Amino acid sequence: MKSPILVTGATGNVGSVLVQLLHNAGYTVRAAVVSEAEADYLPKGVDWVKFDFTDPTTYARAFVGVEKLFLMRPPHISQVERDMKPAIDYAAAAGVQQIVFLSLLGAEKNNFVPHAKVEALLEANSVPYTLLRCGFFMQNLSTTHRQDINENNDIFIPAGTGKTAFIDARDIAAVAAKVLTEPGHAERAYSLTGSEALGYQEVAAMMSEVLGRPIRYSNPHFLRFAWRLWRRGFPLSYVTVVTAIYLTTRFGLAEAVTPETAVLLDRPPLTMQQFISDYAPVWQGETAVIPNTTLEIVGGSKQ
Ligand SMILES: NC(=O)c1ccc[n+]([C@@H]2O[C@H](COP(=O)([O-])OP(=O)(O)OC[C@H]3O[C@@H](n4cnc5c(N)ncnc54)[C@H](OP(=O)(O)O)[C@@H]3O)[C@@H](O)[C@H]2O)c1
Repeated sequence: MKSPILVTGATGNVGSVLVQLLHNAGYTVRAAVVSEAEADYLPKGVDWVKFDFTDPTTYARAFVGVEKLFLMRPPHISQVERDMKPAIDYAAAAGVQQIVFLSLLGAEKNNFVPHAKVEALLEANSVPYTLLRCGFFMQNLSTTHRQDINENNDIFIPAGTGKTAFIDARDIAAVAAKVLTEPGHAERAYSLTGSEALGYQEVAAMMSEVLGRPIRYSNPHFLRFAWRLWRRGFPLSYVTVVTAIYLTTRFGLAEAVTPETAVLLDRPPLTMQQFISDYAPVWQGETAVIPNTTLEIVGGSKQ
């Protein structure tokens, strides 16, 4: 058996697509899941293992024989030194030869975000790493903001008129698959966005057209936004980070488009229009669905 690629966050926006891409292309992939029940949602035939960053007893089985690691920081983890360093150290000791980390656009300029702390740990570590610094996921609209859209036809986000260079998480997974499966990406950092910056008013108009019902952008005060998330049970650390990120959007800090996604994938990034069409059932009252991806790995050397 070839050395497996361990994918953390295998049930998440990026990890779930990455697992599918690697599996479809014939790579040996090991999906790290927090609880056994989640393994039912993985593509058939994918090897999986129970793994929890905060439970070192799950590391040994997860890392055995692993050559490459896709590292994702669970959104609720803010104590990186306490909750992620042990797994990163374990990966190095277990002989992992490349870590690809799902980071945040601009993390290199913002020491306060947890992603910057993970990047610092990787830099201090001996394992070659690749950083994928990503802009806002389009999938935030189909996950975090789905309830407001479905119940109130409202994009309830405090971003003012600031524009966002959204990226589809499926493109991030495609980039991750590529850098995990071809040489030349060690010690590199890529800033990944989609191909256009859009305001939420424009996004609301696109959704209205595709979904056939009016969706508005109500642009609430940031305190109302934070209060609503907190009342829904999101942890305070998560509410604070998400609210702060939308404030940066309000000031135009999320609008810069980078060329790197298109260069790495050798095709234009997926558009917001495409995303809304593909995910339309999510906002039409059906359960959350992750559409089957028709993407393929670009350039990876097949096993
Ligand atoms: N959303 C954005 O716009 C954006 C932009 C740039 C970067 N990011 C970063 O991307 C990351 C999230 O990626 P995503 O959206 O693909 O993930 P996601 O959909 O938020 O899913 C989180 C994943 O983490 C797993 N998880 C939760 N607790 C865990 C633990 N203790 N140990 C191991 N795994 C655990 C979850 O498993 P369960 O299914 O069991 O919960 C799930 O697979 C975050 O670090 C976020 O800051 C996000």
